[in-house]
Amino acid sequence: MQHRTVLLHEAVEALWDAAEGPHPQGVYVDATFGRGGHSRLILSRLGPEARLIALDRDPDAIAHATQGPDAITDPRFQIVHAPFSSWAEVIADLGLGPVQGLLMDIGVSSPQIDNPARGFSFRFDAPLDMRMDTTQGESAADFLAHASVDELTEVIRTYGEERFAWPIAKALVARRDEGQPVRTTGELSAVVARTVKTREVGQDPATRTFQALRIHVNRELGELEDALASALTMLAPGGRLAVISFHSLEDRIVKTFIAKHSKDEVDRRVPFAAPKPLMLHAIGRLKPSESEVSGNPRSRSAVLRVAERTEVPWSPESEAGAGRASRGKAGGAKGGGAKVGGRGGRR
Ligand SMILES: C[S@@+](CC[C@H](N)C(=O)[O-])C[C@H]1O[C@@H](n2cnc3c(N)ncnc32)[C@H](O)[C@@H]1O
Repeated sequence: MQHRTVLLHEAVEALWDAAEGPHPQGVYVDATFGRGGHSRLILSRLGPEARLIALDRDPDAIAHATQGPDAITDPRFQIVHAPFSSWAEVIADLGLGPVQGLLMDIGVSSPQIDNPARGFSFRFDAPLDMRMDTTQGESAADFLAHASVDELTEVIRTYGEERFAWPIAKALVARRDEGQPVRTTGELSAVVARTVKTREVGQDPATRTFQALRIHVNRELGELEDALASALTMLAPGGRLAVISFHSLEDRIVKTFIAKHSKDEVDRRVPFAAPKPLMLHAIGRLKPSESEVSGNPRSRSAVLRVAERTEVPWSPESEAGAGRASRGKAGGAKGGGAKVGGRGGRR
């Protein structure tokens, strides 16, 4: 299936104030190029002196951006093969920054899921790879070749939220001990199907285990946390952060990060303590419309969260002190479903 970009217009327009549009000399970052749906729209909206730097850890995405009929030859554009945890270093190495807008559309792309050779899907029988960056790191099969029952249980329970994590882990290790380690998606599906007795309607028994191994192999949650932390140091005052996530574990990290740096929480034990500076202003949260979901069912679990960097300079104290601030200075977004794209002047 061709990749259909999720929340295309909403996420791109969230990168700047609706009334002002993109910064004329702004540096923008698309940290998850994929097939470039968001990047192409960002470029169409930027002025001649602005820059767009894209990243992706998948060599196929880099090839797509640089070779063949869909290659992007725009001189304002550059793509770097790197994990997005290092996006701030990438920008600094290019001699650029601070950044006016950072977009992350995290998770796997349809071309990754639908390519049997990548081993992401139980729909095809293929080697159990699951690495987004096929040039380095340990595949899912390599991990299964040495992980203990405890390690496997932890991974499957934490990242898959799988009730049957322990019996699945035991079955996988027992198979390995019998000299038949799981090396393919089909073998993994079969072991899980034999072990998991009950399953949510309409869900393959292996769904949660596949998700867990993918998150572990790609260190997905750690990548996200590291990338978010860099937004505090690398975004310009007024710069925007827009993150699309596809499952609750990721969304919880984004939500908590934005709340931590944008919310006024008075410590009742020291109610008159000096206000702590807030580094983010929460702009809002958005889900795909019904018509987007009906045209692209894979978008149904997507959530876009948007925040804006305040003027407060980054410092270890301001980061540690997130949580107590003067009311009204940079209050958080109220309620869900807020519109993105409003507020703030250019700084
Ligand atoms: C959902 S797709 C992005 C689709 C893209 N917005 C588009 O319109 O085509 C996610 C992409 O992010 C990449 N990705 C996921 N995690 C990453 C990470 N930690 N560092 C860099 N790229 C990552 C994947 O390789 C994949 O190409």
